[in-house]
Order: sequence, then C-alpha cells, then structure tokens
Amino acid sequence: MSERPTDVAVGSQFDADQTPYKAIGGETGVQALVDAFYDQMDTSEDARVIRAMHDDLSRSREKLFWFLCGWLGGPQHYVERFGHPRLRMRHAPFAIDQSARDAWMGCMHRAMDERSIEGPLRAFLDARFEHLATFMINR
Ligand code: HEM
Repeated sequence: MSERPTDVAVGSQFDADQTPYKAIGGETGVQALVDAFYDQMDTSEDARVIRAMHDDLSRSREKLFWFLCGWLGGPQHYVERFGHPRLRMRHAPFAIDQSARDAWMGCMHRAMDERSIEGPLRAFLDARFEHLATFMINR
C-alpha cells in the first residue's frame, strides 16, 4: 500500500495556470495514485468482479500510469507507445455495466482519499474520472 506523501492536501493550490499533472505532483504523484488505485482493486470485496477482468496488474499499473500522465497534461507516454488511446474501443471486450463502472470509481475515490487529493484538484478529477468511466459503459 502507498503511504501518504505529506500531511498537506495535494491540489489545494490547483488553479487555471497549472496543469493537473503538475498539481498532482508530476510523475511521482501519478504513480502513487495508480498504485493506490490498483491496490484498492486488488483487495476490495466490491471490486472483485472488475479485478477478475484484469490479468497481470503490473501491466495495468504501467499502462494507466502512461495514460494518466498525458491525460492530465504531462508527457504523452501512452500515445508515444500505442497511438490514440481509443479507450472505449479498447474496453469493448470487457462487460462494463453500471455496477462495474461504480466499482472502478469506488477504487479511484478511495485511492484519491488515500493520497489526500483534495480541494479544486479533487473536484476536477472527480468530474473527469466520472465522465470517462461512464463513457466506458458498454452493457
Ligand atoms: C468503468 C470501469 C472500467 C473497467 C471495468 C475497466 C477495465 C479495464 C480492463 C479489464 C482493462 C484491460 C486490462 C489492462 O490492460 O489493464 C483496462 C485497460 C485500460 N483501462 Fe480501463 N476500465 C474502466 C475504466 C477506465 C477509465 C475511466 C480509464 C481512464 C481514466 C481507464 C484506463 C485504461 C487504460 C489506459 C487501459 C489500457 C488500455 C490498453 O492499452 O490496452 N479505464 N481497463
């Protein structure tokens, strides 16, 4: 499990001049969030169904890290390796219904709690993750 980096809330100073990538703490902050997220998925009872859709989580950690860096305004590691994310298409093989979406969001909310992501950055990320997770529903 990841430990909280500091006692100070992450993102309380987030504003329009800053990318979310910088506000979250750059590469280190994104990596810590991704690790907390998959630790949640690996251990939470309510994530059992979505955990079973995944195989080796170390590959998932790597891919979500690459994706989030670019999606939050940092380096485009994912696009450099795989081209356009086309996430809905890449999720098509998995049966994602409302409850799978809610389980994914539950892990992400708890991961953001664990990382003490608060304030304007938290509000921004809640909305963006919710939007994208809902877009992944395909059943
Ligand atoms: C809504 C519920 C979701 C479920 C059940 C789900 C499940 C999965 C599964 C089973 C995989 C394949 C295994 C893997 O490569 O790790 C995957 C891949 C991936 N997911 Fe999700 N996902 C969801 C939402 C999201 C969201 C909201 C994002 C982005 C914020 C995301 C980002 C990714 C990325 C980047 C990959 C790797 C794609 C690739 O290159 O193969 N997923 N997801």
